[in-house]
Amino acid sequence: MNEASFIPQSYKSTVDSGSFTWESPSNIALVKYWGKKKDQIPENPSISFTLNQCKTTTKLSFSKKENDDDFSFDVFLDGEKKADFKPKIETFFKRVEAYLPFLKDYYFKIETSNTFPHSSGIASSASGMSALALCLMSLEKLLDKNISEAYFTQKASFLARLGSGSACRCIEGSLVVWGNHDKIEGSNDLFGIKYPYEVHQNFNNYQDTILLVDKGKKQVSSTVGHNLMHGHPFAQERFKQAGQNLENLIDSLKNGDLDGFIKIVESEALTLHAMMMTSLPFFILMKPNTLSIINKIWEFRNETGSKVCFTLDAGANVHVLYPEIEKETVLKFINNELVAYCENGHYICDVIGLGANEI
Ligand code: PMV
Repeated sequence: MNEASFIPQSYKSTVDSGSFTWESPSNIALVKYWGKKKDQIPENPSISFTLNQCKTTTKLSFSKKENDDDFSFDVFLDGEKKADFKPKIETFFKRVEAYLPFLKDYYFKIETSNTFPHSSGIASSASGMSALALCLMSLEKLLDKNISEAYFTQKASFLARLGSGSACRCIEGSLVVWGNHDKIEGSNDLFGIKYPYEVHQNFNNYQDTILLVDKGKKQVSSTVGHNLMHGHPFAQERFKQAGQNLENLIDSLKNGDLDGFIKIVESEALTLHAMMMTSLPFFILMKPNTLSIINKIWEFRNETGSKVCFTLDAGANVHVLYPEIEKETVLKFINNELVAYCENGHYICDVIGLGANEI
């Protein structure tokens, strides 16, 4: 597979108007993608849990227009027209035009909403871009009825990647690998694939409770963040380490080795932040409450033998990960000890999910 595999030859059918709606979840990386080449080609492979509750629903309505001079579309968030979302979508359309040559033939109305609060510090770009990519694939399937299910899924992930790198890991569940890795069959830089190996039942319905420590706008956009890895003194070692961590995770996932899993996942989270602290310019994206939560989790684990652990995105919020059998005790611990560190006591309970759905 290469980029050219996703350029259509010609369409046999025509369609004037219609609409499609897809809901697509967010994901949380266990081995992090941080650092990229052109067009969201990752510097290292990554793996994520697909989420279930945190998702974007997007309705794409399309109608054929008179001319095909330019892109023509409007974006609505929760029913409100959002002119400020247009440049990002325009950039996305430009990047994918070669793969979806019908884009300039239609006017598009893009209506989107998220299940998580807009200002929660949870990025909607992954779920949002994947939902839009899936709607566009549904339209392409109308134009070419021979598109297979496998091609549909791969191309949706490929297109989503061009919108926002980690968005390519949202299409399927429950574990998705993106980025070429010698030990993972089928893995590649162009799109995410379902993790192809055995996963122990300890990871069934794995829980993710997202503690909203700081609901403000992200201090560092991911574009700026990835760029910090260019010329970073530790970059090459970090990219190697990510590959090694992914390789080590294969055994933990197979054997249900939760201690091994915790070691890799927490180290990945802290390394991501260490990369930001040691870049130029440098950033500290954790807040004092982030550190308090991490210390409380470590204390709780030491005292009770629990297998709860944390991971972080490029921000201050904490994803608390734990096996389903610990749901009751960990939620009690969160309510008794961690809620105090969340902005307005807010947190979101999620669980790993199976990927996007057409509605
Ligand atoms: O997809 P982007 O460009 O928003 O980058 C996501 C980067 C992290 O969330 C920090 C890590 C990851 O692999 O999701």
